[in-house]
Amino acid sequence: MHKDSIPATQPAAHPGGAASPAALKMDAHWMPFTANRQFKAAPRLLAKAAGMHYWTPEGRQVLDGAAGLWCVNAGHARPRIVKAIAEQAQEMDYAPPFNMGHPKSFELAERLVELTPAALNKVFFTNSGSEAVETALKMAIGYHRARGEGSRTRLIGRERGYHGVNFGGISVGGIVGNRKTFGPLVPGVDHLRHTHDLARNAYSRGVPEHGADLADDLERMVALHDASTIAAVIVEPVAGSTGVLLPPKGYLQRLRAICDKYGILLIFDEVITGFGRLGSPFAATHFGVTPDLMCVAKGITNGCVPMGAVFATQAIHDAFMTGPEHLIEFPHGYTYSAHPLACAAALGTLDTYAEEELLTRAAKMAPVFENALHSLKGVPNVIDIRNIGLVGGIELQPIAGDPGKRAFNVFLECWERGVFIRTTGDTIALSPPLIVEESHIDQIVSTIADVLKKHA
Ligand SMILES: Cc1ncc(COP(=O)(O)O)c(C=O)c1O
Repeated sequence: MHKDSIPATQPAAHPGGAASPAALKMDAHWMPFTANRQFKAAPRLLAKAAGMHYWTPEGRQVLDGAAGLWCVNAGHARPRIVKAIAEQAQEMDYAPPFNMGHPKSFELAERLVELTPAALNKVFFTNSGSEAVETALKMAIGYHRARGEGSRTRLIGRERGYHGVNFGGISVGGIVGNRKTFGPLVPGVDHLRHTHDLARNAYSRGVPEHGADLADDLERMVALHDASTIAAVIVEPVAGSTGVLLPPKGYLQRLRAICDKYGILLIFDEVITGFGRLGSPFAATHFGVTPDLMCVAKGITNGCVPMGAVFATQAIHDAFMTGPEHLIEFPHGYTYSAHPLACAAALGTLDTYAEEELLTRAAKMAPVFENALHSLKGVPNVIDIRNIGLVGGIELQPIAGDPGKRAFNVFLECWERGVFIRTTGDTIALSPPLIVEESHIDQIVSTIADVLKKHA
């Protein structure tokens, strides 16, 4: 099926004329979300990618168990996407997005809204997930104001939520390490409790039984603040970056119902769950819960060119469409919103997803993936296993007094053994490209098992 997963020849060392790794100077680049000193002391470099694999500059093959960073859903270097980007770069490099347009952004928007729940029929383009989140939060507050409910400015997030790194995102987000350094953040934000419940839900296959009632926290916020002050609640339908936390059965439905009861907008952050990760185009379609605003990024271009987007309902869009027609209705946007290269990449990506039925492939592979992951039950230091679609979380017992170290060590050793995984805290988070085959899943899981057993 995926013939281009395996390149015919081994990639050359140092492709693209890059400096040999030994000659690379690493001082200047301050790396994001990286243990910079540890990395520079023992660098892990990637030089080439195709299908399910990366290659190091020395030509060592590494299986990608994380779809890059939850984004390369169709696998690496897919021909249609590569061609689309190359042709677009030749044809038109850039077009200003303010008061000007280019055909591909309109074509892309139409194609995208064919995939979303019918109510989400407007698309606003950004360049990242973080920007999509900021955009959605501003849309929510602006929408209420435009309707004459300007007092609705409060935003509700959730503990352990990840919504990118900008001020709005870390304010509604709930990852303490991302918040504590940066002062008082955006005012007027509150948080629902997170849904992780190891005592009752450990080793659930798919969504856990217990915890739908945690959605009632929103009722408590209404009781405390009054609905007339609350603009929106934002959640990841499946929380990824905090370590793969699935919504308890009925939780998202309950959240939707409470939002409806009080006129609060529901925002789904689908930056990870969007584009097939759960076995359906979006978590909204998977769970049958339609939010009012939906943030995406990552898989929208298969990770090839930065792009994000916010889907909005007609009602939210229309609330802004007032006033003199020559005036800007929503004073927001980015120099690179709907960048031609990103649009071309996204169109190539959607073609690839459609041709190979990748937006539903995770549903087919999910039973194989689930069984393989749950075979790790009983392996030393595994304390929980969580899975949905092609997302897996393996939670490890932290080393006493050294949180995160055990999982980081597993990450390092898997890398040495030719498997790239992602870890966050003491959870291994797996999200292979959606073209993954059973043999790849076996390799990922057996490598993790071997490493954990060795360090028992
Ligand atoms: C749910 C969620 N929201 C937002 C973001 C931020 O996206 P970006 O890194 O593209 O800004 C991420 C990134 O992992 C994410 O997982």
